[in-house]
Amino acid sequence: MSAHVRITKSVLDRTILYRLYCDCAAIAHFAAPNSHACPGTHIALERFDRRRSSMGLRPRYSQLHQLKVLRSMPQQISPKVQSPPHKSPAVFSVKELTKTYRMGSVDVHALRGIDLDLYAGEFIVTLGPSGSGKSTLLNILGGLDTPSTGLVKYHDHDLSHADDDELTRFRREHVGFVFQFYNLVAGLTARENITIVTDIALNPFEADTALQIVDLEDRANHYPAQLSGGEQQRVAIARAIAKRPEILLCDEPTGALDIKTGIVVLEAISRINRELGTLVVVITHNSSIAGMGDRVISLADGQISDIKVNAQRIPAKELAW
Ligand SMILES: Nc1ncnc2c1ncn2[C@@H]1O[C@H](COP(=O)(O)OP(=O)(O)O)[C@@H](O)[C@H]1O
Ligand SMILES: [Mg+2]
Repeated sequence: MSAHVRITKSVLDRTILYRLYCDCAAIAHFAAPNSHACPGTHIALERFDRRRSSMGLRPRYSQLHQLKVLRSMPQQISPKVQSPPHKSPAVFSVKELTKTYRMGSVDVHALRGIDLDLYAGEFIVTLGPSGSGKSTLLNILGGLDTPSTGLVKYHDHDLSHADDDELTRFRREHVGFVFQFYNLVAGLTARENITIVTDIALNPFEADTALQIVDLEDRANHYPAQLSGGEQQRVAIARAIAKRPEILLCDEPTGALDIKTGIVVLEAISRINRELGTLVVVITHNSSIAGMGDRVISLADGQISDIKVNAQRIPAKELAW
């Protein structure tokens, strides 16, 4: 079936919106070509050109293809995401959330009343000792688990009362997950590990574009066993973001890595947040990572013990580990 036959009204609407975005991005990019004033520009333009080519149209913005140039620039934090854009409505709105696991005759109170709003484009670091409820909270936000009581809303959708099908659709369309252990399929190359996701996604990046975003384009044909731990984690990140999720949830993404490799992985995550505007939540028990976030949410014993707003985000490579 050709691309033309598959065009529906919603695809057309998306294409028009995308075209508008690309036009605005190109103008902003021309206005400030040496800054990160317009996060994600080069990726958007590249994608737009590829789509035009696949429809037999001439690439429109290829002369603006700046990926390599941007790569060589010092990493800066975009002013847009230095402070959380709280004026927009929350992406997640969590109210009085509890989660109790029943283990035989014992109740384990993993979450004991969480109230929290998360906003588009934020970089959230979640800190707390082992067992404080970090993973439980992340899993509920990502639709992998459901609350015992309380409300979890994703925009206008009530996730707390969603059934399995709705949660599956929510995860598939909107959430990328990164875990401590990379969960790559051993018998597939880096590229193939990504295409198993992009094949079923609505509006994905090309697998190779996703690998470019994490600086691994030259490892596309490597199998996981031929990659270092940090590289495997970056493939896992590329796989998570290849479907262009609005949200990227990372549970201890550097937990199995040494300091130097951990920083490279955090740089990749930070760049996705900065350039694609993805709402990122990173769980860690390493408080040195806290400086990277717009906000640092500390959990203790199933409750939020502290929320700190960072006036300035520290780039990953400047973190004192
Ligand atoms: N599936 C589960 N079944 C039973 N207890 C669980 C389950 N998941 C987590 N818990 C318990 O809930 C508490 C919080 O766990 P978790 O969210 O994994 O903490 P963290 O990620 O901060 O280490 C812990 O006491 C843990 O043992
Ligand atoms: Mg955990």
